[in-house]
Amino acid sequence: MLVLGIETSCDETAAAIVEDGQHILSNVIHSQVKTHTPYGGVVPELASREHLAKIRPIVDQAFADAGKTLDEIDGIAATAGPGLIGSLIVGLTYAKSLAFAKNKPLTAVNHIEGHIYSVCFEHPGVEFPALALVVSGGHSNLFWVESPSGGFRHLTYKLVGKTRDDAAGEAYDKVGKLLGLQYPGGPVIDRLAKLGNRDAIGFPMAKISDGSPDFSFSGIKTAVLRLVRSENLEPKTEAETREDTHRLDVLASFQEAVVQMLWSTTSQGIALLKPRSLILSGGVAANSRLRQYLSEKTAEVGIGFHFPKPVLTTDNAAMIAAAGTAKLLRGEIADFDFNPDPNMRLALPDASFPDKRWRT
Ligand code: KG4
Ligand code: ZN
Repeated sequence: MLVLGIETSCDETAAAIVEDGQHILSNVIHSQVKTHTPYGGVVPELASREHLAKIRPIVDQAFADAGKTLDEIDGIAATAGPGLIGSLIVGLTYAKSLAFAKNKPLTAVNHIEGHIYSVCFEHPGVEFPALALVVSGGHSNLFWVESPSGGFRHLTYKLVGKTRDDAAGEAYDKVGKLLGLQYPGGPVIDRLAKLGNRDAIGFPMAKISDGSPDFSFSGIKTAVLRLVRSENLEPKTEAETREDTHRLDVLASFQEAVVQMLWSTTSQGIALLKPRSLILSGGVAANSRLRQYLSEKTAEVGIGFHFPKPVLTTDNAAMIAAAGTAKLLRGEIADFDFNPDPNMRLALPDASFPDKRWRT
C-alpha cells in the first residue's frame, strides 16, 4: 500500500511516500526557518504564502525521489490540525485536489498522532500499552496509548497530562529570544547547554497544585526573564555565548529544569499507569539531554524507550503518511468538505482518567 503524506501545519512544507505504513520511499522537507528567523518566531501569513509557493514542487520531488507516480499511490494523507489555519488549508486543499482529480481516497490526520507514529519506522515492535510524551513548539502532552490488535495498525489515545500554559519548545524559543539567540531557540540551547554546568542555578520547578500529571513552563520562562533583567544581560549571538561561562550555566540550568519537569510528570504517569514503554516525540524530542536522561530513567524503571531519528523528530510528512495508512486501512476516509481544525484534539480530557480527583 503506497501512501502520499502531506504536512503543512506550521512552518515546514513536507511530502513523503510511504509503503505499507513502514518503509519510507521519500521524505522531502522544506523548512521556512530562514523566512521566520528575522521575526523571532513563525509569522502565520508568511508561512501560508510560502506553503503555497512550495507545495507543488515539494510533492513533485517526493514522487521523483520515490520513483513513483500519482497514479501508483493507493491513498493520500494530509495533516488537518492542530496548527496554523492558513498553513493547514494549503496542504489539505492540495491533498483534496489530488484526491479528487485522481479518484484516490483521502484521510485527514491529526498532527499529534503523526508525531506518535514517527517512531514506527525504526521501532515497529514498540510494546503497548505505552505512554507517549509529545513535546514540540506548540504542544506538550502525555498520552496513554493502547493497541487493541498489537502494532501500529490501530492505536487508541487517552489524555494523561497537558501543559497548563506554554509548550516545552515554546519555553526554549522564548528563553533563546530573551538572550539574543537565533530562532528557533531549542537546537541552539541544546548545543550551548552542553558547555555549561547544569547544576549552577537552581531554577524553580513548577508544581501543579492539584497533583495532576500536567506540565507548566511559564514559571521557568519568567524565572529566566527575571534573571536577565536583574543581571542586565544583553543579547548575545551563539558564538559570543560560547565564550560566556555564566550564560552557558544559565542555559544548562534552564535546560535541566525543563528536563526534570518533563520527567517528573512522566514518572508520575508511569507509576500510575504502568506502561510497557515510553515514546518520546515532537520537535523537543531532538534534545540530547532529554533523550539521555529519559533513557537512563526508563532503564531504571525497566520499560522500553523509543524516540525517532532527528529527521523524523521535527515536522515531516512520513509520520503523517504512516498514521494515514492505518486510518485508510480502517476505512477512515475524509469527505471533500472536511475542513482543517486549528485546535484539533487527539484525546479530550476525561473526567475519570487517569484519576477522577484531578478533573472534576
Ligand atoms: O514538532 P516541531 O517541529 O513543530 C511543532 O509542531 O511545534 O517542534 C519545533 C520545536 C521548536 O520549539 C524548537 O525549538 C524545538 O522543537 N526543538 C528543540 C530541539 N530541536 C527542536 N528543543 C530542544 N532541543 C532541541 N534539540
Ligand atoms: Zn509538530
